Amino acid sequence: MRNVKIVSTGSYVPQKILTNQDLSKRVETSDEWIVSRTGIRERRVIAKGQTCSDLAFEASKSALQKAGLSPEDLDMIILATLTPDKRLPASANFLQEKLGAKNAAVFDINVACSGFVYGMSIAMQYIRTGEMKHVLVVGAEVMTEILNWKDRGTCILFGDGAGAAILGPAEASDEHELLSTHLFSNGALWPLLNIPAGGTEMPWTAEVFERGDHLVQMKGKEVFKEAVKSMISASEIALRKANLKISDIDVFIPHQANLRIIDAISKRLDFPKEKIFVNVDKYGNTSAASIPLALDEAVRTSFIKKGNLILIVTFGAGFAWGSALVKW
Ligand SMILES: CC(C)(COP(=O)(O)OP(=O)(O)OC[C@H]1O[C@@H](n2cnc3c(N)ncnc32)[C@H](O)[C@@H]1OP(=O)(O)O)[C@@H](O)C(=O)NCCC(=O)NCCS
Repeated sequence: MRNVKIVSTGSYVPQKILTNQDLSKRVETSDEWIVSRTGIRERRVIAKGQTCSDLAFEASKSALQKAGLSPEDLDMIILATLTPDKRLPASANFLQEKLGAKNAAVFDINVACSGFVYGMSIAMQYIRTGEMKHVLVVGAEVMTEILNWKDRGTCILFGDGAGAAILGPAEASDEHELLSTHLFSNGALWPLLNIPAGGTEMPWTAEVFERGDHLVQMKGKEVFKEAVKSMISASEIALRKANLKISDIDVFIPHQANLRIIDAISKRLDFPKEKIFVNVDKYGNTSAASIPLALDEAVRTSFIKKGNLILIVTFGAGFAWGSALVKW
């Protein structure tokens, strides 16, 4: 079995900024409420006509450039998204075409906010066995298109963006090794966070649009509790399996959903806040883009340094959650 490394990362966010102040003109809320309950100050919104694959394309281009690879070098593209360009075909096909990655097998995965970590885990198996060499994993979301802008409990939380990583085989002396991934799910909890309509169970109708059933619905308090519990457990399992202690971790990259969730995890794990990478204040929850957007920014700003042991932990609708260990 071959070892696997993160060859490079890239990310992209749309230019347009939507501040809490802007939101307070749309729904009954305030900057003070949003910051104190979530830590979010602003989020990005797509320009008119911009799509999931457009955001994915920009993030992927940047990752390819940093890796010194051409699109033809990619053997596989995994695009994690719950906001695809179209219902058919997969947005990975649009991304493939935009990149000119003609040698790649491509597909989408929908594991909501945990999609990127699931994508890395899939890529890892193909590279380990020698079946594939370079796999592009992307998380890209246009969350602002599926939010109910009348529901102040959800519309304040999410934003648009994309992050990407190219995974490839590692030699023994290589840096940036992806050491492990750990995936978990519990389908019984789907009612807490979902979009009721638009699938075969409840097709779109005028009534559906009237009720807002084509948009995100969430029971915030319950999701909050599950997110904290699940991300703590995924962190502990990753550490236990690697025979590590929490004090061995240099950098913690949690899913950027809510600063209070991150604070609760850091408290329960007894992990110092200064080692936790946070950018939820600038982008809100970008779902599948959250982890790769944070990872790329942490690399670019040297928050992550050579030799650092990184614990990544994710959580989202499904519910699906997971963790990954990386030696940078
Ligand atoms: C959504 C969330 C911020 C709400 O915070 P909360 O402390 O749980 O707040 P509650 O839902 O209990 O609401 C408390 C009050 O604030 C009000 N409120 C909700 N959203 C508000 C907003 N944007 N502005 C002002 N008031 C708001 C509620 O109506 C409620 O008022 P009431 O007491 O008069 O009924 C929080 O539950 C959360 O972040 N959950 C996790 C969501 C998440 O991360 N989802 C994605 C996971 S991948």
